[in-house]
Amino acid sequence: MDLNSIRTLLGASWTGTEALLKEAVNSDVPLLRETNHSLLQHGGKMMRPMLSLLVAKACGGNGGEESQRVAAAVELLHNATLLHDDVADEGTSRRGIPTVSATLGNAASVLVGDFWLSRAVSMVLSVGERRDTYIDVFAKTLSDLAEGEILQLQKAGTGDTSQDDYMRIIYCKTASLFEAACAAGAMSAGTGLSEDSAASSLEPIGAAKEYGTALGLAFQVRDDILDYVGSDHLGKPAGSDLREQKITLPLLGALLRVERDQERMVRQMVCDIHSHPDYCSRILEFVERYDGIAYATERLSELVEKACRALDPLPDSPAKTVLLDLARYTAARDV
Ligand code: IPE
Ligand code: IPE
Ligand code: MG
Ligand code: MG
Repeated sequence: MDLNSIRTLLGASWTGTEALLKEAVNSDVPLLRETNHSLLQHGGKMMRPMLSLLVAKACGGNGGEESQRVAAAVELLHNATLLHDDVADEGTSRRGIPTVSATLGNAASVLVGDFWLSRAVSMVLSVGERRDTYIDVFAKTLSDLAEGEILQLQKAGTGDTSQDDYMRIIYCKTASLFEAACAAGAMSAGTGLSEDSAASSLEPIGAAKEYGTALGLAFQVRDDILDYVGSDHLGKPAGSDLREQKITLPLLGALLRVERDQERMVRQMVCDIHSHPDYCSRILEFVERYDGIAYATERLSELVEKACRALDPLPDSPAKTVLLDLARYTAARDV
């Protein structure tokens, strides 16, 4: 499956969303205009707006104006979080080019991120009568994102990240936005929001949320595996997580297989990694030796299966078929 064919399938819904996105980040401040132009030129995979539109269609919508506004808002929000994330993580390259923080500095990256965030809010406010519902959905995601990033930051220096901590971090920093993209997409199809609607009409929104959550968790687990195994197509450096003292699923899986003493020692090495950069290769060897990647890959498959099952209540449709393909693509992607 390739993402371009999904864009083609989405047709006018997709081109409409792209046009909204472009219009939303327009500015007459030259530095902002040029930076936004470059961000749009190197736009990434755009998976989240695709999800919103596909879910809208799978829930019986036509992918019209409201769905497109929701999809554009999701991508604006996503880009804002990346601009802030590259400051937090000192990220030097993304999507194959230097980050805004690397070229223009952290202040510029934070401010451009703020601009995209505010345009996301305006986009949500422009949808019409259901805007309060969407604001609720996106406000929750924004606070999840901040909580996830802070929890990750707090855990980075201590080496004590547990599997529960890890799942909470990846839910908050990644899956929450996938969940919001899918829930808002389902809502934009016009089902299940008025008070007198039948309870059954809420089902598509619940199904979409469950799908988005499991898919988002899977997406981040795959990202964390790729950080260990590397990929020429990723456009961002591999091995960053350990250098940032992030304990992710491949390492947690390997740690499950050793005695308490050895676990303590490896966790201490993560804490000391800044003063001992050579620990990086030793921890990589440890993960390889104790099959950490295989462990994470199994968990990833379970999440993908969960995402696919969540769509059971939705009727068969071309959009649902693509959503199922997208879930499987998430487990295999190397971009
Ligand atoms: C990057 O997301 C942040 C993570 C959740 C890992 P994507 O990999 O979807 O980023 P782009 O938009 O395609 O660059
Ligand atoms: C992804 O976190 C989630 C957000 C951007 C909020 P990461 O820090 O793991 O993502 P990359 O690896 O920089 O894309
Ligand atoms: Mg990062
Ligand atoms: Mg990462």
